[in-house]
Amino acid sequence: MNKTKILAPSILSADFSRLADDVAKTERAGAGLIHVDVMDGHFVPNISFGAYVMKCLDGKTPLPFDVHLMIEDPDRYAADFMTDNTRYITVHQEACDHLDRSLEYIRSLGAGAGVAINPATPVQTLTHVLGKADLVLVMSVNPGFGGQKFIPYALDKVRALADMRELGGYGFAIEVDGGVTLDNAKSVLDAGCDILVAGSAVFCAEDVGKTAAEFVSLL
Ligand code: DX5
Ligand code: ZN
Repeated sequence: MNKTKILAPSILSADFSRLADDVAKTERAGAGLIHVDVMDGHFVPNISFGAYVMKCLDGKTPLPFDVHLMIEDPDRYAADFMTDNTRYITVHQEACDHLDRSLEYIRSLGAGAGVAINPATPVQTLTHVLGKADLVLVMSVNPGFGGQKFIPYALDKVRALADMRELGGYGFAIEVDGGVTLDNAKSVLDAGCDILVAGSAVFCAEDVGKTAAEFVSLL
C-alpha cells in the first residue's frame, strides 16, 4: 500500500514568540501537517500547551493539525482540539481504559482517529482496533521531550505494523515520532513510515525552511 509520504514538523521545538512565522517557513518548504504535542505533566513528565495555542494558529496556516495527546483521560479534552483544520487526534494506548470507545469517539467528532504506542508497548496490543484507527503513531523516544535520541528498535515495530496493515487490508497511516533527523529519516521511511514527525531537527536548525525542504526532498 503506497501512501503519500508527509513531513509533520512538531511545534514543541518552535519559537513560540514567532510561531506562525516558523510554521509558515515549513509550509513553504512542503510540510503537509503541523504536529501538535499536548502534554499534561501526568502522563508524561512535562507540560507543554493546550488547545488555545493551537487555535491561535487556526486560519494562520493551511497546514492541518496533527494533534498528539500525551495526557491522561484524553476523551475529556479531545473535543477541545476540534477545528475545521484538525486532521488527526491521537491518544495513547497506555492512557486509555477504553481504547475502542476512544477511537470511535474521535471519529464521531469528525477527526481522523489516531493511537500512539510508547517504545516498550508491543504493536500487537492494537490488533483488535486497527480497523478503527486512521493513524498509528510509533513513538521512537519515550514521550515528554524534544531533542532525544532515536530508539532503533522502533523500526522493527514500523515494519511489523506495515505487515499487519497489508495482511488485514487496513487503511491507517503509520507515523513515527521522536529523534528523527536528516540522517535517519530515509531508514524510517524505508521501514514503512508515511508521516515523519521532526521537531528539534527542523525548528532548532540554523535555517528552518532549508532544513524542512531537505526533509521533504527525502519523502
Ligand atoms: C515527544 C513528542 C515529539 C517531539 C519530537 O514526546 O511527542 O513529537 O516533539 O521532537 P524531536 O523531533 O526533537 O524528537
Ligand atoms: Zn509528538
